[in-house]
Amino acid sequence: MSDVVTSLPGLEPTSALSVETVLSVRMWNEHLFSFTITRPASFRFRSGEFVMLGLAGEQRPLLRAYSIASPAYAEELEFLSIRVPDGPLTSRLSQIQPGDQVYLGRKPTGTLVADALLPGKRLFMLSTGTGLAPFLSVARDPEIYDRFDQIQIVHSVRRVVDLAYREPLEAKLADDPLVDEQAATAFSYVPTVTREPFHTTGRIDALIDDGTLFKDMPGEKHLDPETDRIMLCGSMAMIKDLAAKLETMGFVEGSNSHPGQYVIERAFVG
Ligand SMILES: Cc1cc2nc3c(=O)[nH]c(=O)nc-3n(C[C@H](O)[C@H](O)[C@H](O)COP(=O)(O)OP(=O)(O)OC[C@H]3O[C@@H](n4cnc5c(N)ncnc54)[C@H](O)[C@@H]3O)c2cc1C
Ligand SMILES: NC(=O)c1ccc[n+]([C@@H]2O[C@H](COP(=O)([O-])OP(=O)(O)OC[C@H]3O[C@@H](n4cnc5c(N)ncnc54)[C@H](OP(=O)(O)O)[C@@H]3O)[C@@H](O)[C@H]2O)c1
Repeated sequence: MSDVVTSLPGLEPTSALSVETVLSVRMWNEHLFSFTITRPASFRFRSGEFVMLGLAGEQRPLLRAYSIASPAYAEELEFLSIRVPDGPLTSRLSQIQPGDQVYLGRKPTGTLVADALLPGKRLFMLSTGTGLAPFLSVARDPEIYDRFDQIQIVHSVRRVVDLAYREPLEAKLADDPLVDEQAATAFSYVPTVTREPFHTTGRIDALIDDGTLFKDMPGEKHLDPETDRIMLCGSMAMIKDLAAKLETMGFVEGSNSHPGQYVIERAFVG
């Protein structure tokens, strides 16, 4: 089926879009894949931001928002994607091969950035599904370790096979020469699988309540708005529920113009 993608005419750059080449593709399971593309020399972004990405459409480019999974210093741009079987973009994007072309927006943006948070001691990045992507970027950026003493990624998925990047995260990013030393002591990873047997099976709110989040974390065994900072990315339901929980604990939402104690971004609309 990859000829569906490759048989389209070559893409043309526009004032808003550059044309990039796919360098690698990894299928995690039948509805989850990641890929890397070339990075234009002029493309600047902050770790945690998202950008428009897409393929040729019938009338105009078919674009969707994508969190950049690679850190700001990386030579290539990496993305983690869902495959929605009847999704206009991902039914095709899931068939890309190295050498294929994609559109890349020229203006990345977003709120899951260190600048939107007040200074703190511990950073908790709470994700469901593909909401992991921006946190792969933030956790692999050396600068985040200068801002926080402890960095944690929590990833909640339905099935064990949905735990993309489990190996490098369990290894505390030991293969990443830019952050390996700091991550060895400052990074922790809490995967949870909610619809299959696994060592951890609670939703994120339950893991906050039962203390699982703080198991490998120095400091208090609860969230504290004075010292803890939080990023949320995933389904609308998770963000709505967890943001409400944080607000009752006294956390105030931040933005690029008004940094706060927690920030949110939807991993998808719908
Ligand atoms: C700020 C932002 C950042 C995003 N970052 C990513 C990302 O890094 N990776 C990614 O895969 N998607 C991401 N998305 C979603 C992405 O923009 C598209 O929705 C997705 O690629 C599907 O496109 P589609 O055209 O195939 O289907 P669409 O018509 O866009 O979506 C169809 C339906 O599929 C479901 N869906 C869409 N995306 C997801 C998802 N990621 N996880 C679970 N269900 C989903 C929803 O129910 C949606 O209504 C992001 C969205 C936003 C708003
Ligand atoms: N993942 C799959 O196997 C799969 C397969 C085919 C299609 N899809 C479709 O893809 C879409 C998204 O699937 P997804 O698996 O990425 O996302 P999802 O359904 O949002 O589940 C991801 C994780 O988020 C948790 N979660 C959901 N709502 C929450 C809340 N309010 N508070 C805290 N945690 C919450 C889930 O726990 P719970 O398990 O307890 O809900 C699960 O651990 C859905 O429309 C789905 O139908 C998914």
